[in-house]
Amino acid sequence: MLRTLYLKFFEEKNHSIISSASLLPENDPTVLFTTAGMHPLQPFLLGEPHPSGKRLVNCQKCIRTGDIEDVGDSTHLTFFEMLGNWSLGDYFKEEAIEMSWEFLTDPRWLGLDPNKISVTVFEGDEEVPRDEESASIWKKVGIPEKRIYYLPREDNWWGPAGETGPCGPDTEMFFDTGKKKCSSSCQPGCNCGKYFEIWNDVFMSYNKVSENKYEKLKQKNVDTGMGIERTVAVLNDMKTIFEIDTIKPIVDRIVDFTKIDHPNPEQIESVHIIADHIRAATFILGDDKHLTPSNLGQGYVLRRLIRRIIRQGNLLNIKQRFLPVLAQIVIETYKNIYPELENNKSFIIEQLTQEEQKFSTALRKGLRKFNQIYSQTGTITAKDAFLLFTSFGFPLEITLELAAEKNLEIDLDKFKQEFEGHRDLSRKATEGTFQSGLADHSSRTTRLHTATHLLQQALREVLGEHVQQRGSNITSERTRFDFTHSQKLSREELKAVEDLVNQKIQEALPVKKVIMKPSEAKKQGALGFFDDRYEENVSVYSVGDFSKEICTGPHVRNTSEIKHFIIQKQQNIGTGLIRIRATIE
Ligand code: SER
Repeated sequence: MLRTLYLKFFEEKNHSIISSASLLPENDPTVLFTTAGMHPLQPFLLGEPHPSGKRLVNCQKCIRTGDIEDVGDSTHLTFFEMLGNWSLGDYFKEEAIEMSWEFLTDPRWLGLDPNKISVTVFEGDEEVPRDEESASIWKKVGIPEKRIYYLPREDNWWGPAGETGPCGPDTEMFFDTGKKKCSSSCQPGCNCGKYFEIWNDVFMSYNKVSENKYEKLKQKNVDTGMGIERTVAVLNDMKTIFEIDTIKPIVDRIVDFTKIDHPNPEQIESVHIIADHIRAATFILGDDKHLTPSNLGQGYVLRRLIRRIIRQGNLLNIKQRFLPVLAQIVIETYKNIYPELENNKSFIIEQLTQEEQKFSTALRKGLRKFNQIYSQTGTITAKDAFLLFTSFGFPLEITLELAAEKNLEIDLDKFKQEFEGHRDLSRKATEGTFQSGLADHSSRTTRLHTATHLLQQALREVLGEHVQQRGSNITSERTRFDFTHSQKLSREELKAVEDLVNQKIQEALPVKKVIMKPSEAKKQGALGFFDDRYEENVSVYSVGDFSKEICTGPHVRNTSEIKHFIIQKQQNIGTGLIRIRATIE
């Protein structure tokens, strides 16, 4: 096993094995996920002493979403494991290169044919000189001059991981797969597949402090990286990365689910996407930080990954719920190396189940909506894409994929404008007037407002139809809701109401507004108890099929935005009125 061999080799070379850091970076706002083994080590590369010493080795779980569009082919992954060894101001180029060479070619370790290995080094520019030193060390260990290539900064410079931080020139090792050269100029660095980058030794001796500004670091470091999945695939002469031992069982299980004997290339691509994304989603959820799918930042990446799996499953005609089963395989495969997966197993399964439940229905409805818009208008606009996002939870990329299948392009700038316009709305509203019993319209009050509609309906379901709103007052901290009921609720009743509201939040129900006459609103069963105050037309807000109320808004577009609802206390305010105070998380 490559992982075990690597760790053992460097342990013999006096490196301390450190465990993989979290996938969710600490104290680094410049990136969403840990993208390389060096990432969590940045403070130590910058000079802080590491508790485990100056020589470290590990296997780091990484997420890179930059290439997400390419996942599905034979080599791209969003989740992967990276092996790395580090010198924190200890050894530098000579020892690093010698060790790399020994690990690659010595029969005790990988024992690769030295003739199949070539290397690249930094060719130099105005700021940093050509790396003759590395080239001469390579010659010394046994690489002939003709297999040493000098490449520019775009190829042979690594880092920083985020916008600023430690970086430096690197030397990369390539394995000749034996394929034909794609052209006479084909050489290491070419993407045709002949030369495979197996390992990267970065000589981290610079710190990028701002755009085009580099400072020399106090200490000279080494940071190396070897991607496990790709390396295992190449060394075993496999056609795709999806054949390796840690991924194949997932692929096989997905194919079982599809009940397709001979998947065509498109179907294979879908299988690959699912296999990659379920690994990524399981590892993100398996992190001790318990990140949940959401519409923001890391949570949104997680949501996109999960929703994309469901969409690909839909393309493959998988009928049953399948995410938790696949996640179990990932957990089983890796639990000994990453015990957090086993420890967080119930959280992983619960979150995947919930998200699958939510989105499977929304996907069906959203696809119907998409087709309806398309057949009515012949196109899909940025506004439509935004509607699919807010009402059906379609990540933009799903809509883009659907549009591309119909040869349509969506104006991304316009989509962004819609998105920002929506945000501005809630910002503007904060400065706005008092309406609907709301003290202001910040997004929290909006969320609490929709939660209050859910609360009223939940009370009616649990206690009976006699429940009627008598007043409400909402601030950004809490909602206060007065309603007709003769006595305080029992503990069980309170819990049932709270649970029902949370269930409706989890169901990610779309919130819709329709303008109509009050009489029509009544006919449709909309709640509204202030008849004399209504104008000629009223707006009726419905939350899925659960609640319908005459109201001036504003409301969230989807109940999932509310997140979590908590009843804080109740009070009997006399004459058959109960007051509930509740908040959201
Ligand atoms: N940070 C470098 C890379 O990711 C080497 O570890 O390739």
